[in-house]
Amino acid sequence: MNDVPNEVIRIQEVGMRDGLQSAGQFVETADKIRLLNQLSQTGLSKIEVTSFVSPKAVPLLADAENVLNAIERASGVTYSALIPNIRGLERALAVDLDEVNVVMSVSNAHNMANLRMTCEDSLNQFREICANRGSLKVNGTLATAFGCPFVGKVEPSSVLDWAKRYVDVGIDSLTLADTVGTATPHQIFDVCKQVLDAFPRTEVTLHLHNTRGLGIANALAGIDAGVRHLDASIGGIGGCPYAPGATGNVCTEDLVHALIFDGYSCDVDLDALVNIAGQLEDLLSDPLPGLVRHAGSKLTTHPMSDDLRCRLGLPA
Ligand code: COA
Ligand code: ZN
Repeated sequence: MNDVPNEVIRIQEVGMRDGLQSAGQFVETADKIRLLNQLSQTGLSKIEVTSFVSPKAVPLLADAENVLNAIERASGVTYSALIPNIRGLERALAVDLDEVNVVMSVSNAHNMANLRMTCEDSLNQFREICANRGSLKVNGTLATAFGCPFVGKVEPSSVLDWAKRYVDVGIDSLTLADTVGTATPHQIFDVCKQVLDAFPRTEVTLHLHNTRGLGIANALAGIDAGVRHLDASIGGIGGCPYAPGATGNVCTEDLVHALIFDGYSCDVDLDALVNIAGQLEDLLSDPLPGLVRHAGSKLTTHPMSDDLRCRLGLPA
C-alpha cells in the first residue's frame, strides 16, 4: 500500500442546519446555542449555523436570527447560513455572518419540490444575491448532484453545466451534494475530478449523506480526486425534508476518526466531538446514527474478564 500523504482535510459542520431542519422535534434555541459554542472550539473550519428559509417550509429552524445573534464566534471558523432566495439574503445581511450558502438542485424536479421554483429561477435569485452580497462570501451548493429521488440518474454533464453557471454568476466556492446518498465511490471520484479539472481556482466541498452506508467511502474517493473540504454532521443527523428517503449526513466524529487514523490531518478534537454528539443525543428522541461514539476509537481496548484470564492460565 502506498504511503498516505499527510494532507490537511477541512471539516465543515452542517448538523445544526441539515440535521436539525429534519429532526424529530424542535431543539430549543438555548440548546442550539450551547452546542454551537462547543462546536466552535473543536477545530472545525466552517459551521453552517442555520438557514434563512421560510419558517413555514422549515419550522425547526425558525429561530435562525436568535441563534446567530447569541453564539460566540471563534477565530478561524467561518460561520455560514443557507439561503434559498433574496429574502434570505436580506435576513443574512442583518446578522453577523461570514458566508451565505445558496442552494439549488441539479434536478429541476427536486428544486421544485424543495424550493418551489425552477432551477432557472433559483439561478436568477443567486445572480441578484451575488450582486448584493456586501462583504458576505457566497458558497453555491448543487443538490442532487449524484442522483435525484424523483428522476433518478443525474448526468455529470449537467453538474458541470450548472457549476459553470454558478461560477459565472459570481459564487466564491462550490459544494457538490449527494442529497439522498445515492453516490458510489467511483462516481464521486469521476464527477469530482471533472469539476476540479474544469474549475481549478474554485474551492470544492463534498456534502455527503450516508443513506446507503457509503458516506465515508465516498469521502475518501472525493479526497483521492483532490477534494479537501468535506461537510459532515455531528452524530450523523441530517436529511432534506423535501427529499423522500433522505437520511443523515456522513457523521462528523466518524469521518474525523476515519481520516485521522488513515493518516490525514484535520486539526479537529475527536474527543470533544464525541462529547457533543452525546449531548445532542440527549436532546433528540431517536438514537444518533454515529458509530465511533459507541465503539470508541480504533485504539480502544477492553480488559479480559477474570474468568477468561483464569481459563487461559493468565495472572489475574
Ligand atoms: N425567509 C423567511 N420567509 C420567507 C423567505 C425566507 N428566505 N422566503 C419566503 N418567505 C416567506 C414569504 O415572505 C411568504 O410569507 P407569507 O406567507 O407570510 O406572506 C412565504 O414565505 C411564501 O413566500 P414565497 O416567495 O411565495 O415562497 P414559496 O412558498 O414559493 O416557497 C421558499 C419558496 C424557497 C421560500 C420555500 O420553499 C423554502 O423556504 N424552502 C426551503 C426548503 C429547505 O430549507 N430545504 C432544505 C435545505 S436544502
Ligand atoms: Zn444535506
